[in-house]
Amino acid sequence: MLEGVVGRRRTEKTLPRNEKILRSLLDPSALPRHVAVIMDGNGRWAIKRGLPRTLGHRTGVKSLREVVRLSAELGISALSAYAFSTENWRRPPEEVSFLMELFVEYAGKEVEELRRNGVKVRVIGRREGLPARVLEAIQSLEQETKEGGRVTLNLAVNYGSRWEIVDAVKAIAQEVQRGVVKPEEIDEAVISSHLYTAGLPDPDLLIRPAGELRVSNFLLWQLAYTEFYVTPVLWPDFGRVDFLQALITYQQRERRFGGLKGNR
Ligand code: FPP
Repeated sequence: MLEGVVGRRRTEKTLPRNEKILRSLLDPSALPRHVAVIMDGNGRWAIKRGLPRTLGHRTGVKSLREVVRLSAELGISALSAYAFSTENWRRPPEEVSFLMELFVEYAGKEVEELRRNGVKVRVIGRREGLPARVLEAIQSLEQETKEGGRVTLNLAVNYGSRWEIVDAVKAIAQEVQRGVVKPEEIDEAVISSHLYTAGLPDPDLLIRPAGELRVSNFLLWQLAYTEFYVTPVLWPDFGRVDFLQALITYQQRERRFGGLKGNR
C-alpha cells in the first residue's frame, strides 16, 4: 500500500519528518498490536548538553508521554516500556534514587491523563527490592488505571527477562508438584501464560533508540518474531514523528514468522 501512496518504497532515511504527511502514509488497519520500547540514550542526551544525566531521564518522561498519547490516538493496544532493569541497580546510588523518585512522580502526575486516554498501567518486574514509596505508587497507579480499555501500558521496573523466565519456570514447577499441570502438557502457551505479559500478544515491533544493537534482557521470550527498529535518535529526542517513522517502517517489513514469502 505504501508504494501506491508515495510511488516508491521509502526507506528509513527518506521518510519525511512531518507528522501530517507521516500519518497519511500510515495504514491504520495494519498497526502493530504491541510495541516494545527500550528507552535508551538519556545519559548521552544530557552529557551532550553539559547537563546532569538525571535531566536526561526527566526529559525521557516527556518522550514516554508522547508515545503513550500517540498509541492511544492510533489505537495501538499494548505498549511495553523499559524503565529500570535489574542491572540498573549497579548505577550510582544517586541515579538509582532519582529514577525511583521519578517513577513516584510519574505515577502521581500522569495518572489523570492516563485515565482520560483509557490507558491501563501494569508494572512488570520484580517487586522485591523496590522501596516502599515505589511499591505504593505502583499499587495506586495500577488500581487507578485498571478500567483503561484502550492501551495496556507495561512499565518494566526492576525488570529482567531472565528473572521473568525463572519465575515462570518456578511457578510451573509448583503447579506440576501440586498436580495441576502434567509435564507433558507444558507448551509455549503455558510458558507465555506465566510471564508478566500473560494475556497480551507478543510485541510486533521493538523500538531501540540510541543506536544500540542489543536486547538488554528485555522480553527475551516474547521478542521471538518481533521486528526490530533501531534509530540513532536518543530517547529524550524521540517524539511523535520518530514513533510514526518506526510504525511506517514496520509496515514496510514483510513478516514471515519463519515461513516462506507470503505465508503466515
Ligand atoms: C537508559 O538510558 C534509561 C534508563 C535506565 C531509565 C529510563 C527511564 C526513563 C526514560 C524515565 C521514564 C520512566 C518512568 C516510568 C518514570 P541511559 O541512562 O543508559 O542512557 P545512556 O546509555 O546514554 O547513558
